[in-house]
Amino acid sequence: MRRGLFVVFEGIDASGKSTQARRVAELRDAHFTFEPGDTPLGVDLRRWVLDAATPMTPITEALLMLADRSHHVRTVIEPALSRGRSVVSDRYFASTLAYQGYGRGVDLARLEAATELAIGDCRPDLTVLIDTPLDVANVRRTPDVRDRFESADLDFHQRVRDGYLAIAAKWGDLWCVIDGSRSESEVADLVDERLASLPC
Ligand code: ADP
Ligand code: TYD
Repeated sequence: MRRGLFVVFEGIDASGKSTQARRVAELRDAHFTFEPGDTPLGVDLRRWVLDAATPMTPITEALLMLADRSHHVRTVIEPALSRGRSVVSDRYFASTLAYQGYGRGVDLARLEAATELAIGDCRPDLTVLIDTPLDVANVRRTPDVRDRFESADLDFHQRVRDGYLAIAAKWGDLWCVIDGSRSESEVADLVDERLASLPC
């Protein structure tokens, strides 16, 4: 059986990536999933890691994200791909590099090594970065939701955005960068244009 296609959407908070990830999953009849938290274990990990009232070091934060991912890959993503089902994920390993690496300052080489342990060889066929300036994303944000990351300062979010762009530049054709400041339908057209070159 042919393996399913694995497509990931990345971006800063409120960049508009979930809107596109859900739309593409429906269009392609793919399994939609997200990180952190889309497994029974992940629900608890997500609650801990997003709770702004629980102090946590950046490395602990990274390890909780990696624990969630390791479980997610083995119980959700990999089984679906092996059955021939395509998977669209709202966030994957680059979120940890961007937020905990570039954002918090955790050593990138060590994070990359830990990522290999967490995901094995389950790499996306394509990662779509919805690149949205902070001021544009800020307008789209739900005003009173303030989890650990949403309550971080602007400099943190700027480092995350710049980090994503640096990661995208490194991965070449395996990533595509879409201007997230455009209207929802314009972003959708740009995403579909890029996805058209992938097998169904
Ligand atoms: P994220 O997953 O990156 O946090 P969402 O996809 O949930 O972002 O979008 C955040 C908000 O912005 C939602 O209310 C959504 O409807 C809206 N939105 C998404 N894409 C756009 C866009 N291109 N232009 C304007 N609003 C958008
Ligand atoms: P979520 O409400 O799912 O945000 P979004 O809709 O923007 O995806 O919250 C997930 C938060 O967790 C988000 O701020 C990014 C952060 N995060 C990390 O810091 N590292 C990671 O590895 C992942 C997967 C998410």
